[in-house]
Amino acid sequence: MLACPLPGGHVDVKANLEGTCVDTFAVTGGARLAGTATVTGAKNSALKLMAAALLAEGTSTVRAVPEIADVTIMGEVLRRLGCSVELGFEAECASGTVRIDVPHHLGTETDYDLVRRMRAAICVLGPLLARCGRATVPMPGGDNIGSRGLDLHIAGLNRLGADIRNEHGFLIATAESLVGAMVWLDFPSVGATENLLMAGVLAKGTTVIDNAAREPEIVDLVSMLVEMGAKIDGAGTSTLEIVGVDGLHPVEHTTVPDRVVAGTLAYGAVMTGGDVHIRNGRTHHLDVPLGKLTDAGAEVTSTADGFRIVMDRRPKAVDIVTLPYPGFPTDLQPMAVGLAAVSEGSSMISENVFEARFMFVNELVRLGADVQVDGHHVVVRGHRQLSSAPVEAHDIRAGAGLVLAGLVADGRTEVSGGHHIVRGYPDFAGQLTALGANVTLDTTPDP
Ligand code: UD1
Repeated sequence: MLACPLPGGHVDVKANLEGTCVDTFAVTGGARLAGTATVTGAKNSALKLMAAALLAEGTSTVRAVPEIADVTIMGEVLRRLGCSVELGFEAECASGTVRIDVPHHLGTETDYDLVRRMRAAICVLGPLLARCGRATVPMPGGDNIGSRGLDLHIAGLNRLGADIRNEHGFLIATAESLVGAMVWLDFPSVGATENLLMAGVLAKGTTVIDNAAREPEIVDLVSMLVEMGAKIDGAGTSTLEIVGVDGLHPVEHTTVPDRVVAGTLAYGAVMTGGDVHIRNGRTHHLDVPLGKLTDAGAEVTSTADGFRIVMDRRPKAVDIVTLPYPGFPTDLQPMAVGLAAVSEGSSMISENVFEARFMFVNELVRLGADVQVDGHHVVVRGHRQLSSAPVEAHDIRAGAGLVLAGLVADGRTEVSGGHHIVRGYPDFAGQLTALGANVTLDTTPDP
């Protein structure tokens, strides 16, 4: 177990790290989502911004950080490297603000237990190598969504002059000095692009990352690095050019809003025939997923501070293919399958980013969904309603997808494995309840 939320969706650090409680989302179906929801900063950005702080001695501040278990874990990872870390939701500073005071002499060994829980912790590798010329990082863990190699991270850092060995479950990386180089990524990996960016900013000379990831979270990381004094061109395109500098300085930076949380709420609104205003939702970060909702019959309009999504009919089936950004995000694929399960007609959904991301489908089938899996495709025949049952979440996004499916099932659905969901969604139950749903997060001591 990873997390015990406290009232208000806060996370109990001790229980989180010791794993002493069981989290279950209880969902009573039938409600229509309506009202306003506000999206905080993106998990997938905030964790990397926290790691980027390691690149400069002094105090950096990251704002709009979501109050989720993974942020707590990343805070602990940084503390054990010698940083002093104040998380806004467990200390005196404003909610959602993280202050990281980075010492001159940083530790270079990250904690095995912490990193194996959360894959994003691998992003300390680049900054530690750049600052200290050395990093010992356990092979990271994270979601159960298939094999998640590190070959692109390693090959890229090798090109910059790092030597990386895999010993006893740890990656041991050393570099006398990092030297800029041309790096071609076989796949536009988000994590590899981030590690290479954070290594390249302090390398000698110019690094070019070709076939780089283009996600809004990469653009956000580049913005923070540039504010710190880095020289980077091409953010948001497939080619990033980094001219190494001698040193960086600490900054204050605000995290980009979470497009996956915004997308999850939008899919929930459409599945339930709802009307939801999503504050801080950025339509231009969700072009493809919102386009699919429009094809399904929804109306999406931009507002001064986000967007509104209205659905007044049963959704029509749409086909969906996940791809790296700007394609349909793999993190919203479980919501797409949930939508297809209650749409009129048949949908084909193809997963191209993670090999085992359809594992959750068995749980959706327990809820009465008609889904056939064939390799990395599923065919879903829609039914008007699903049927409640106990199900289990095995990863963050599939967990959120199962909660949405519970909203369109008759009766009460219990989604166990809620500790995965609280890793990525700040106060998910509270947010859905405020929109009119009947969702609680029940936390009990682990027997
Ligand atoms: C990040 C996101 C995750 C999202 C994913 C794709 C975080 C914390 N997580 O994960 O929510 O679903 O991007 O948008 O930001 N791969 C290799 N070798 C490598 C690196 C990656 O084979 O060295 C493969 C992976 O196994 C996977 C694919 O590339 O099949 C995509 O991985 P990547 O883009 O690196 O995703 P993450 O950074 O792990």
